[in-house]
Parts: sequence; C-alpha cells; structure tokens
Amino acid sequence: MFTDGRLYSPVTTSTDGDVTVHLSDEHPGVHDPEYRARRNAIAARALAYRPGTPAPRIDYTDDEQQVWRIASAELARKHQRYASAEVLAAAQHLGLPGDHIPQLDEVSEKLVPLSGFRYVPAAGLVPLREFFGSFAQRIFHSTQYIRHHSAPLYTPEPDSIHEIIGHANQLASPRFAAIYAEAGAAVARLESEAALKFLADVFWFSMEFGVVREHGEVRCYGAGLLSSYGEIEEFRQARLRPLDVREMGTATYDITHYQPVLYCANSISEIEDVVGGFFADVTDEVVAAHG
Ligand SMILES: [Fe+2]
Repeated sequence: MFTDGRLYSPVTTSTDGDVTVHLSDEHPGVHDPEYRARRNAIAARALAYRPGTPAPRIDYTDDEQQVWRIASAELARKHQRYASAEVLAAAQHLGLPGDHIPQLDEVSEKLVPLSGFRYVPAAGLVPLREFFGSFAQRIFHSTQYIRHHSAPLYTPEPDSIHEIIGHANQLASPRFAAIYAEAGAAVARLESEAALKFLADVFWFSMEFGVVREHGEVRCYGAGLLSSYGEIEEFRQARLRPLDVREMGTATYDITHYQPVLYCANSISEIEDVVGGFFADVTDEVVAAHG
C-alpha cells in the first residue's frame, strides 16, 4: 500500500452493487476487457470482506501466476545486490513462494510468528488514518490484484508484488515491524490532518523509500524500492540526505518519477532512533513546531 491517493485506480460501487475499478488511460491493462473484469471482481471481494473472517482467496490465472514468477525471480536477484542485510535476513526467514502468488492468509501465517503482522484485503486506497492506525494492531491492508501481464516488471499502482515482495519482506523483520507499530500508535494521538500527512510523509521517505549505508555501500530497505524493478537500479543515482524528520515530513515529491532525493541512514539503529523515535513521540504540537 502507498498512501498517496493519486497512485490508485478509483473503485466505485453502483446502486445495483456493481463494483468498477477505473483504470487510467495509460494503464497497461486499460484496453484488455478480461483484465478489467478481473480487477472489478477482485475489488468486489475485498469490499465484501469483514474483519475476523478469512481473507478472500483469489483463484489466480496462469497469466497472473506467470507475472509473479517473473517479477519475484527478477526482484530476488536485485535484492542480493541492492537490499539491506536486515531485509535479506528477514526475507530468508519469511520464505515467500516464488512459484505462485501467496494468498493473504498464507502471508499472514508466515509473518505472524516472525513479527505479529497480519494481512487483510484492500480494494484500493485505504484512508490514511485507517491504514496507518491499523499498524498498532499489527494489521496491514493489502491489495490483491496483480499488474497486467504485458508488463510484468512495471505497475503504475501498488499491486500484490508491492504489498508482498516489498512490505512483507520488510515486515518479517521485528525491528522494522516495531517501527510500523509505533507509527500506528501515533495515529491515535494525532488529531489534525496536517499532522497525519506529516507522519505519512516521514513514512514515505523511510519505510517506502529509505536507504541505509552498509559496508560503504548504499542499500535499500524501503518497500517502494524493494518492489520496483526499475527504481531499485536507479536509487544509487539519487541525491542522499541524512535522516532528518523535519525535512522528510515537509519535502515535496513527485510520485510519478523516481525519487531524486532519498534519506540515507547510517545503520538500522539510526532508523529506529530517528524514525521510530519520532513515531513514538509525535503529537500535533510536535508537528506544528516542525512546520
Ligand atoms: Fe507501500
């Protein structure tokens, strides 16, 4: 899940209950009626979900499974070269399947013993307060659709590959999971939308697009980088800034391009101290003082 609404295809329900996902004109699947029907059906399953019941089981097609196999193998190779040691160790413990798209309950079964996180379905964008707030209960809202098979290494919107290969590999680390949980607890304290947006932006530049220096090399731990075949090669060209919560919370960014500025930690401990520490302490007043 990315929390920027501009990244999502809007989902609507008609008065007679028909669920429609509105793909943009540039979406690789926009001219494929079968794909569009599929997206509508998967979104309808997520909308019908009720907490406390099993997550919808999606009967993925051969094309969809093939997309997962390609992306999963290519990203695993990239991770060896570019991902942080903390993520690589977590991914090894998690052991995601490379041969099929795991159902959300399958992801939860693997994650719960490692960090307590469970996956629940999302049809599309989940409101910021609900998305981040649920981290306090160690719940992660995840989309279940997969990118179009004509472009297995590209997606204009967060799909299963982002949610699972990006976020679950990160959430399998108890250290990163604790940072998510702090962000979730913070949401309950924040009243203003400005403070919530500030928290979301700090999260964006850390848990989505964060990098860390390890043995003299810059490696990524952010889910957005871990799940992007293109950006994971490019992030070493980005301008690197030291971790600075005030900058991260107020920086502007263009979601449609590779991030030109990234925030680089010197260690996982520094991410815990600076980002985790910020989530642990943040209030509306703290954000107002940063503004
Ligand atoms: Fe995300």
